[in-house]
Amino acid sequence: MTIVSTPRTPDERAPVGPRRSIIGTSWKMNLTSTEAGGYCDALRPLVADLLDRDLFVLPPFPAIWIARERLSGTNVAWGAQDVHPEDGGAHTGDVSAPMLADLGCRYVEVGHSERRRDHGETPELVAAKIEAIVRWEMSAILCVGETRRLGPAAALEQLLPDLERSLGGMPAGSFDRLVVAYEPVWAIGDGAVAAPPDDVGAVQSGIRAWLDARAPDGSAARVIYGGSVDEAIAGQLLAQPGVDGLFVGRRALDPVAFAAIARAPLPRT
Ligand code: PGA
Repeated sequence: MTIVSTPRTPDERAPVGPRRSIIGTSWKMNLTSTEAGGYCDALRPLVADLLDRDLFVLPPFPAIWIARERLSGTNVAWGAQDVHPEDGGAHTGDVSAPMLADLGCRYVEVGHSERRRDHGETPELVAAKIEAIVRWEMSAILCVGETRRLGPAAALEQLLPDLERSLGGMPAGSFDRLVVAYEPVWAIGDGAVAAPPDDVGAVQSGIRAWLDARAPDGSAARVIYGGSVDEAIAGQLLAQPGVDGLFVGRRALDPVAFAAIARAPLPRT
Protein backbone atom coordinates (compact mmCIF):
# COMPACT_ATOMS: atom_id res chain seq x y z
CA MET A 1 0.00 0.00 0.00
CA THR A 2 1.39 3.42 -0.90
CA ILE A 3 0.46 6.45 1.15
CA VAL A 4 0.97 9.52 -1.01
CA SER A 5 1.16 12.18 1.69
CA THR A 6 3.17 12.17 4.90
CA PRO A 7 2.43 13.74 8.27
CA ARG A 8 4.29 16.91 9.14
CA THR A 9 5.40 18.45 12.36
CA PRO A 10 3.51 21.62 13.33
CA ASP A 11 6.44 23.81 12.22
CA GLU A 12 6.21 22.47 8.66
CA ARG A 13 2.49 23.12 8.31
CA ALA A 14 1.22 25.40 5.60
CA PRO A 15 0.07 28.75 7.07
CA VAL A 16 -3.68 28.92 7.63
CA GLY A 17 -4.05 32.69 8.02
CA PRO A 18 -6.19 34.90 10.29
CA ARG A 19 -9.58 33.82 11.71
CA ARG A 20 -12.12 33.86 8.89
CA SER A 21 -15.84 33.26 9.10
CA ILE A 22 -16.74 29.69 8.21
CA ILE A 23 -20.06 28.13 7.16
CA GLY A 24 -20.47 24.46 6.40
CA THR A 25 -22.69 21.42 6.42
CA SER A 26 -22.53 17.78 7.37
CA TRP A 27 -24.86 15.69 5.26
CA LYS A 28 -24.88 13.06 8.02
CA MET A 29 -26.05 9.69 6.58
CA ASN A 30 -27.74 11.27 3.57
CA LEU A 31 -27.04 11.45 -0.19
CA THR A 32 -25.67 8.66 -2.36
CA SER A 33 -22.56 9.37 -4.42
CA THR A 34 -24.80 10.02 -7.42
CA GLU A 35 -26.93 12.48 -5.46
CA ALA A 36 -23.78 14.08 -4.06
CA GLY A 37 -22.57 14.86 -7.57
CA GLY A 38 -25.82 16.65 -8.35
CA TYR A 39 -25.63 18.55 -5.07
CA CYS A 40 -22.09 19.79 -5.71
CA ASP A 41 -22.95 20.82 -9.27
CA ALA A 42 -25.96 22.78 -8.02
CA LEU A 43 -24.12 24.43 -5.12
CA ARG A 44 -20.97 25.54 -6.93
CA PRO A 45 -22.37 28.42 -8.99
CA LEU A 46 -24.64 29.59 -6.16
CA VAL A 47 -21.71 30.38 -3.85
CA ALA A 48 -18.87 31.00 -6.30
CA ASP A 49 -18.66 34.72 -5.44
CA LEU A 50 -18.46 34.20 -1.66
CA LEU A 51 -14.75 34.76 -1.19
CA ASP A 52 -14.89 36.51 2.21
CA ARG A 53 -15.69 33.32 4.16
CA ASP A 54 -14.70 29.65 4.25
CA LEU A 55 -17.29 27.13 3.04
CA PHE A 56 -17.30 23.36 3.42
CA VAL A 57 -19.37 20.23 2.94
CA LEU A 58 -18.89 16.96 4.84
CA PRO A 59 -20.33 14.11 2.76
CA PRO A 60 -20.58 10.53 4.02
CA PHE A 61 -17.37 8.57 3.31
CA PRO A 62 -18.47 6.99 -0.02
CA ALA A 63 -19.16 10.43 -1.55
CA ILE A 64 -15.98 12.24 -0.50
CA TRP A 65 -14.23 11.41 -3.75
CA ILE A 66 -17.18 12.91 -5.65
CA ALA A 67 -16.81 16.13 -3.66
CA ARG A 68 -13.12 16.17 -4.57
CA GLU A 69 -13.97 15.64 -8.24
CA ARG A 70 -16.68 18.33 -8.36
CA LEU A 71 -15.31 20.92 -5.91
CA SER A 72 -11.56 20.91 -6.62
CA GLY A 73 -10.41 24.40 -7.52
CA THR A 74 -13.56 26.04 -6.12
CA ASN A 75 -14.17 28.01 -2.91
CA VAL A 76 -15.98 25.07 -1.29
CA ALA A 77 -13.79 22.70 0.73
CA TRP A 78 -14.79 19.17 1.66
CA GLY A 79 -14.11 16.85 4.54
CA ALA A 80 -15.33 13.90 6.59
CA GLN A 81 -17.72 13.27 9.47
CA ASP A 82 -15.41 10.98 11.47
CA VAL A 83 -11.98 9.35 11.50
CA HIS A 84 -10.18 6.53 13.31
CA PRO A 85 -7.27 7.65 15.51
CA GLU A 86 -4.85 5.05 14.07
CA ASP A 87 -3.19 5.61 10.70
CA GLY A 88 -3.95 2.08 9.49
CA GLY A 89 -4.32 -1.55 10.50
CA ALA A 90 -6.88 -4.09 11.68
CA HIS A 91 -9.91 -1.84 12.23
CA THR A 92 -12.64 -3.25 10.03
CA GLY A 93 -14.96 -0.64 8.61
CA ASP A 94 -12.98 2.35 9.84
CA VAL A 95 -11.31 5.12 7.87
CA SER A 96 -7.96 6.71 8.77
CA ALA A 97 -6.63 10.27 8.63
CA PRO A 98 -4.10 9.53 5.83
CA MET A 99 -6.97 8.16 3.71
CA LEU A 100 -8.90 11.39 4.23
CA ALA A 101 -5.85 13.60 3.66
CA ASP A 102 -5.20 11.74 0.42
CA LEU A 103 -8.75 12.62 -0.70
CA GLY A 104 -8.02 16.30 -0.14
CA CYS A 105 -10.18 16.64 2.97
CA ARG A 106 -9.59 19.94 4.74
CA TYR A 107 -11.94 19.35 7.70
CA VAL A 108 -12.83 16.33 9.81
CA GLU A 109 -15.71 16.44 12.28
CA VAL A 110 -15.34 14.68 15.65
CA GLY A 111 -17.50 14.19 18.70
CA HIS A 112 -20.90 14.89 17.17
CA SER A 113 -23.62 14.04 19.68
CA GLU A 114 -25.01 11.40 17.29
CA ARG A 115 -21.63 9.63 17.30
CA ARG A 116 -21.36 9.91 21.07
CA ARG A 117 -24.87 8.42 21.29
CA ASP A 118 -24.54 5.71 18.61
CA HIS A 119 -20.87 4.78 19.05
CA GLY A 120 -20.10 5.64 22.66
CA GLU A 121 -17.40 8.17 21.75
CA THR A 122 -15.61 9.56 24.79
CA PRO A 123 -13.70 12.84 25.02
CA GLU A 124 -10.45 10.81 25.23
CA LEU A 125 -11.25 9.03 21.94
CA VAL A 126 -12.13 12.39 20.42
CA ALA A 127 -8.75 13.74 21.62
CA ALA A 128 -6.91 10.90 19.88
CA LYS A 129 -8.84 11.57 16.68
CA ILE A 130 -7.96 15.27 16.82
CA GLU A 131 -4.29 14.37 17.23
CA ALA A 132 -4.45 12.30 14.01
CA ILE A 133 -6.37 14.98 12.12
CA VAL A 134 -3.87 17.70 12.98
CA ARG A 135 -0.87 15.46 12.33
CA TRP A 136 -2.20 14.93 8.81
CA GLU A 137 -2.55 18.69 8.27
CA MET A 138 -6.34 18.81 8.34
CA SER A 139 -8.59 20.86 10.64
CA ALA A 140 -10.76 19.30 13.35
CA ILE A 141 -14.37 20.37 13.84
CA LEU A 142 -15.02 19.43 17.46
CA CYS A 143 -18.71 19.33 18.45
CA VAL A 144 -19.67 20.03 22.06
CA GLY A 145 -22.98 20.88 23.66
CA GLU A 146 -25.25 20.32 26.61
CA THR A 147 -27.88 17.61 26.31
CA ARG A 148 -30.76 19.42 28.08
CA ARG A 149 -31.69 23.08 27.86
CA LEU A 150 -29.96 24.67 30.83
CA GLY A 151 -29.22 28.30 30.03
CA PRO A 152 -25.80 29.70 29.09
CA ALA A 153 -24.01 29.54 32.47
CA ALA A 154 -24.95 25.93 33.20
CA ALA A 155 -24.26 24.95 29.59
CA LEU A 156 -20.73 26.32 29.85
CA GLU A 157 -20.23 24.51 33.13
CA GLN A 158 -21.09 21.27 31.37
CA LEU A 159 -19.22 21.73 28.11
CA LEU A 160 -15.93 23.39 29.10
CA PRO A 161 -14.64 20.31 30.99
CA ASP A 162 -15.61 18.20 27.98
CA LEU A 163 -13.70 20.60 25.74
CA GLU A 164 -10.63 20.38 27.97
CA ARG A 165 -10.64 16.58 27.88
CA SER A 166 -11.14 16.56 24.10
CA LEU A 167 -8.22 18.89 23.45
CA GLY A 168 -5.61 16.60 25.04
CA GLY A 169 -4.48 15.64 21.53
CA MET A 170 -4.12 19.21 20.30
CA PRO A 171 -0.41 19.93 19.77
CA ALA A 172 0.86 23.35 20.88
CA GLY A 173 0.82 25.79 17.99
CA SER A 174 -2.04 24.02 16.20
CA PHE A 175 -5.12 25.90 17.34
CA ASP A 176 -5.52 27.44 13.89
CA ARG A 177 -6.55 23.91 12.91
CA LEU A 178 -9.41 23.78 15.42
CA VAL A 179 -13.04 24.68 14.88
CA VAL A 180 -15.23 24.27 17.97
CA ALA A 181 -18.86 23.70 17.01
CA TYR A 182 -21.23 24.62 19.82
CA GLU A 183 -24.15 22.26 19.24
CA PRO A 184 -26.73 22.11 22.02
CA VAL A 185 -28.06 18.58 21.64
CA TRP A 186 -31.64 19.69 22.37
CA ALA A 187 -31.50 22.08 19.39
CA ILE A 188 -30.46 19.44 16.82
CA GLY A 189 -32.63 17.49 14.43
CA ASP A 190 -36.27 16.96 13.44
CA GLY A 191 -38.73 18.86 15.58
CA ALA A 192 -36.07 21.00 17.27
CA VAL A 193 -35.56 24.74 16.92
CA ALA A 194 -32.32 26.68 17.08
CA ALA A 195 -31.14 28.00 20.44
CA PRO A 196 -32.05 31.68 20.99
CA PRO A 197 -29.33 33.84 19.40
CA ASP A 198 -28.68 35.72 22.67
CA ASP A 199 -28.01 32.45 24.49
CA VAL A 200 -25.77 31.28 21.65
CA GLY A 201 -23.82 34.53 21.90
CA ALA A 202 -23.39 34.11 25.66
CA VAL A 203 -22.21 30.50 25.44
CA GLN A 204 -19.91 31.14 22.50
CA SER A 205 -18.38 34.20 24.13
CA GLY A 206 -17.61 31.93 27.09
CA ILE A 207 -16.01 29.34 24.81
CA ARG A 208 -14.08 32.11 23.05
CA ALA A 209 -12.72 33.48 26.32
CA TRP A 210 -11.78 29.97 27.43
CA LEU A 211 -9.94 29.26 24.16
CA ASP A 212 -8.14 32.60 24.26
CA ALA A 213 -6.82 31.68 27.70
CA ARG A 214 -6.28 27.96 26.99
CA ALA A 215 -3.20 28.19 24.74
CA PRO A 216 -0.87 30.88 23.38
CA ASP A 217 -2.51 30.46 19.97
CA GLY A 218 -6.01 29.66 21.33
CA SER A 219 -7.37 32.79 19.63
CA ALA A 220 -6.71 31.18 16.26
CA ALA A 221 -9.42 28.55 16.88
CA ARG A 222 -12.85 29.32 15.47
CA VAL A 223 -16.17 28.83 17.27
CA ILE A 224 -19.29 28.09 15.23
CA TYR A 225 -22.91 27.25 16.04
CA GLY A 226 -24.92 24.22 14.92
CA GLY A 227 -28.50 23.12 15.64
CA SER A 228 -31.53 23.78 13.42
CA VAL A 229 -29.85 26.59 11.50
CA ASP A 230 -31.90 27.88 8.58
CA GLU A 231 -31.82 30.94 6.35
CA ALA A 232 -34.26 32.84 8.63
CA ILE A 233 -31.97 32.75 11.66
CA ALA A 234 -28.51 32.54 10.09
CA GLY A 235 -27.90 36.32 10.04
CA GLN A 236 -29.03 36.78 13.65
CA LEU A 237 -26.69 34.01 14.81
CA LEU A 238 -23.73 35.40 12.88
CA ALA A 239 -24.35 38.82 14.42
CA GLN A 240 -23.77 37.44 17.93
CA PRO A 241 -20.45 37.97 19.70
CA GLY A 242 -18.23 34.90 19.64
CA VAL A 243 -19.93 33.36 16.57
CA ASP A 244 -17.35 32.77 13.83
CA GLY A 245 -19.67 30.72 11.66
CA LEU A 246 -22.43 28.15 11.27
CA PHE A 247 -22.68 24.39 10.97
CA VAL A 248 -25.85 23.29 9.20
CA GLY A 249 -27.57 19.91 9.17
CA ARG A 250 -30.90 19.03 7.59
CA ARG A 251 -31.70 22.43 6.05
CA ALA A 252 -28.51 22.26 3.99
CA LEU A 253 -29.57 19.01 2.31
CA ASP A 254 -31.13 21.40 -0.20
CA PRO A 255 -28.20 23.13 -1.94
CA VAL A 256 -30.32 26.22 -2.64
CA ALA A 257 -31.11 26.59 1.07
CA PHE A 258 -27.49 25.98 2.01
CA ALA A 259 -26.40 28.66 -0.45
CA ALA A 260 -28.89 31.09 1.09
CA ILE A 261 -27.47 30.37 4.56
CA ALA A 262 -23.92 30.65 3.25
CA ARG A 263 -24.81 34.10 1.85
CA ALA A 264 -25.96 35.47 5.22
CA PRO A 265 -24.38 38.85 5.95
CA LEU A 266 -21.26 38.80 8.10
CA PRO A 267 -21.08 41.47 10.78
CA ARG A 268 -17.37 41.93 10.18
CA THR A 269 -17.52 42.67 6.44
P1 PGA B 1 -29.63 20.14 12.23
O1 PGA B 1 -28.25 19.41 12.58
O2 PGA B 1 -29.28 21.43 11.52
O3 PGA B 1 -30.34 19.17 11.34
O4 PGA B 1 -30.33 20.39 13.51
C1 PGA B 1 -27.23 20.17 13.13
C2 PGA B 1 -26.05 19.35 13.47
O5 PGA B 1 -26.22 18.21 13.93
O6 PGA B 1 -24.94 19.83 13.30
